[in-house]
Amino acid sequence: MNRAVDRARLASGLETSRVLTGLWQVADQERAGATLETERAARALEPVVDAGFTTFDVADHYGSAELIAGALRKRRPEVRVFTKWVPEPGVSSRGDVEAAVRLSLDRIGTDRLDVLQFHAWSYPDPGWLDCLFHLLEIRSEGRIGHLGVTNFDAVHLDLALRSGIPLVSNQVCYSLVDRRPAGAMTEVCRTHGVGLLAYGSLSGGLLSDRWLGAAEPPIDESLTWSQMKYRRFIDQAGGWDRFQAVLRAARRVADRCGVSIANVAVRYVLEQPAVAGVIVGARPGERSHLEDNLRLFDFTLDEQSRAELAGAQATLDPIPGDCGDEYRRPPYLTASGDLHHHVTHFPAPYAVRDTERGVELDPEAGFPEAVRTGNEIRISGVTPTHRGRLIGGNDVRAQTHFALDRVEGALQSLDAETTDVTKVTARSREEDWPVVKAVLLKRLASVGPDSRVLDHYPGGLRAVTRHRVEVDVEART
Ligand SMILES: NC(=O)c1ccc[n+]([C@@H]2O[C@H](COP(=O)([O-])OP(=O)(O)OC[C@H]3O[C@@H](n4cnc5c(N)ncnc54)[C@H](OP(=O)(O)O)[C@@H]3O)[C@@H](O)[C@H]2O)c1
Repeated sequence: MNRAVDRARLASGLETSRVLTGLWQVADQERAGATLETERAARALEPVVDAGFTTFDVADHYGSAELIAGALRKRRPEVRVFTKWVPEPGVSSRGDVEAAVRLSLDRIGTDRLDVLQFHAWSYPDPGWLDCLFHLLEIRSEGRIGHLGVTNFDAVHLDLALRSGIPLVSNQVCYSLVDRRPAGAMTEVCRTHGVGLLAYGSLSGGLLSDRWLGAAEPPIDESLTWSQMKYRRFIDQAGGWDRFQAVLRAARRVADRCGVSIANVAVRYVLEQPAVAGVIVGARPGERSHLEDNLRLFDFTLDEQSRAELAGAQATLDPIPGDCGDEYRRPPYLTASGDLHHHVTHFPAPYAVRDTERGVELDPEAGFPEAVRTGNEIRISGVTPTHRGRLIGGNDVRAQTHFALDRVEGALQSLDAETTDVTKVTARSREEDWPVVKAVLLKRLASVGPDSRVLDHYPGGLRAVTRHRVEVDVEART
């Protein structure tokens, strides 16, 4: 007998079924150009709601998904729709944000979005913070119930929260193959009470009995977009043979529990700390896995099962970087293996103008000095502030990260990279210096601990300053 679908509380007044139904797959169903019939697709999802899976994950760019979820919500008021806004890089005006929210409200057919999840392509471009602050205002006006993010890394989730943006969730890839959220991300979520919404937990269906012992499929259009994406994760993790060892381990666990490999894969993620829910993709009107997915709430993984899965996972290579890096830097672990489906170009984070000194950032960018003369660059007086706001709260680590985001954005705007940095000088209070130094060394790899160019002026910041760090950088290209 199936137990009821478990639920999790994400915030006051906001619950989610612990398994959410994801509708990115709708875009895949529509990839040849024909759109799904909205009402028919919504009707096909009603049994999912009947079973207790009442939360749906959609996005502005998932084909007809917002329309379908909206139609379903009209039929079944208990349905909650978590949508996303994935703007082009560089978008940051209040008008842009208003227009995006209006579009989702119209498509879902509501005057208040249950949850809006924001995606940031580039942290060196402070436009991502502008977008979040605009969204916060729109939320205070009542058109958004709650704000979440998607594919944020641990540093920037922490930074946004400490800057006063009350995020309820971060949606990230989390699976037997991809354990990146288990580290710093889990810590940040626990510190701030944020819930992780996991996707990719079935690797597009590859983590299921259907693929146990099967030959390696090529990454081409014979696969779904989702499978193309996660085949790239499997390659990163060491390839198909090692993936098969994970499937075999999951099968042994599944045999003991009397469930499917897919059940073991999702259950594993559901039981990880900070995970509020797992988003399982569905193709309305096509194959249904409803009965099988209901078994998720009939069993738990015991110590032996966890050890067996951990043993197989230990043979995999870790997916590089932090959560969401697959959308920010190579290797791009997307369906196409690059960003061309999502992004046309990355504008310079700050406007540049010609002066007699060379090229420098526009005064509005808020840098006392950010100048390029020939191949020499000087950036000075960088503080963790943006448009007069202190970013990172009173936390020196978050503040230093944001100051370095600004440095990175200035370097990009002046056609340079952080690897071009030859000297960095930071001012902080004595007691903050170990944290500041650790962040500087981590972020500015070319300024190694032995290079003797890292410098610090103890006591250089007055105790009354709200910012706890200030950075100067020299670079050569
Ligand atoms: N924020 C982001 O960047 C991001 C990225 C990706 C996904 N997502 C979200 O996460 C959702 C999930 O997408 P995903 O790509 O990660 O896919 P997924 O959930 O890992 O895989 C979904 C596929 O697994 C198969 N499946 C489901 N239940 C099963 C079961 N019990 N047994 C066997 N197979 C089963 C189905 O394949 P068949 O239909 O082929 O049988 C289904 O289409 C998306 O719809 C979207 O909402 C978000």
